[in-house]
Amino acid sequence: MKRKTDILILGIESSCDDTSAAVIKNDKILANITATQEVHRQYGGVVPELASRAHQKHIVPVVAAALREASITAQDLSAVAYTKGPGLLGSLLVGSSFAKSMGQSLGIPTIPVHHMKAHILAHFINTGAPMPPFPFLNLTVSGGHTQIIKVVDPYTFEVIGETLDDAAGEAFDKSAKILGLPYPGGPEIDKHAKAGRIDAFTFTKPKVDGLNFSFSGLKTNIRNFIEKESRRNPEFIKENLSDLCASIQHTIVEMLMTRLVEAVEMTGITHVALAGGVSANSYLRNKLRETGKEKGWKTFIPPFEYCTDNGAMIAISGYFDFLKNIEGELSDSAAARWRM
Ligand code: KG4
Ligand code: ZN
Repeated sequence: MKRKTDILILGIESSCDDTSAAVIKNDKILANITATQEVHRQYGGVVPELASRAHQKHIVPVVAAALREASITAQDLSAVAYTKGPGLLGSLLVGSSFAKSMGQSLGIPTIPVHHMKAHILAHFINTGAPMPPFPFLNLTVSGGHTQIIKVVDPYTFEVIGETLDDAAGEAFDKSAKILGLPYPGGPEIDKHAKAGRIDAFTFTKPKVDGLNFSFSGLKTNIRNFIEKESRRNPEFIKENLSDLCASIQHTIVEMLMTRLVEAVEMTGITHVALAGGVSANSYLRNKLRETGKEKGWKTFIPPFEYCTDNGAMIAISGYFDFLKNIEGELSDSAAARWRM
């Protein structure tokens, strides 16, 4: 039964290559449906034009499925939240236009959501697990971003460190591509690394100021190394795949964890959380837990299904804004780039 005071929000995510819709009732998810686009695999990366077309095909059935699974109708909704940015413009336009028309036709507010804030707010989806107390530090690692954020409250985010070039997810995906693994490469490296040795190969870590990161040199380092070894032995990758994956994964995770440890030391904040697609990485999840235990931090990792892009994180972000009467306008446009 729906109480009159219940807030029901539809969250729509379409910033990259996943079309996702979720329904949240207050802070509990009733449905979270994602259509992943397989079309990009054959190209070894996301093709923006194809992504936009696939969103157009998926958005109606995905939203319909979410409402059906939540056992509600569109008329029950309090608001529609959508990803305004950052992301691929053509992809964002599909979700934002759909959400604004839906809100307009139902006579309910539409709420533009920042994709990277949403990754972090996924921690506040009520799953029964403990939520991070404010303030906390969040390491946000995705295909497009790598940031250390001081989260003051659900509305205040301070970027204290970020990548100067590639994101951690890109480091995984580009390394995987060099190894001939399919896109997206992150989960592939994670899988093959399980049988490998983390110290089989060493790769150079760049020196970067402050709490910032740089991953572009790693990709070049790996490519040069693989090319050199493959000239000597054409079967080099095949014979060493697990060890290569384990060593690459270890290098990326070490770079992330080193900065995170420094961020804790600098801020004195010992509540530490992880978010974004790369937080699905099993080695990073374990490293955060281990380091937390060793250093006396309290650590928080969202459930697996709320790590990679999903509508649920957009819905919970919409819920927080709805509580404060923060809403968008029909004239709001999608923003491929949008600072936090
Ligand atoms: O947050 P997300 O779904 O989309 C963006 O906002 O970018 O993150 C996608 C990224 C991709 O680079 C993907 O390879 C990476 O997350 N990823 C992983 C794993 N699962 C997803 N990286 C490493 N290990 C994983 N298990
Ligand atoms: Zn994302």
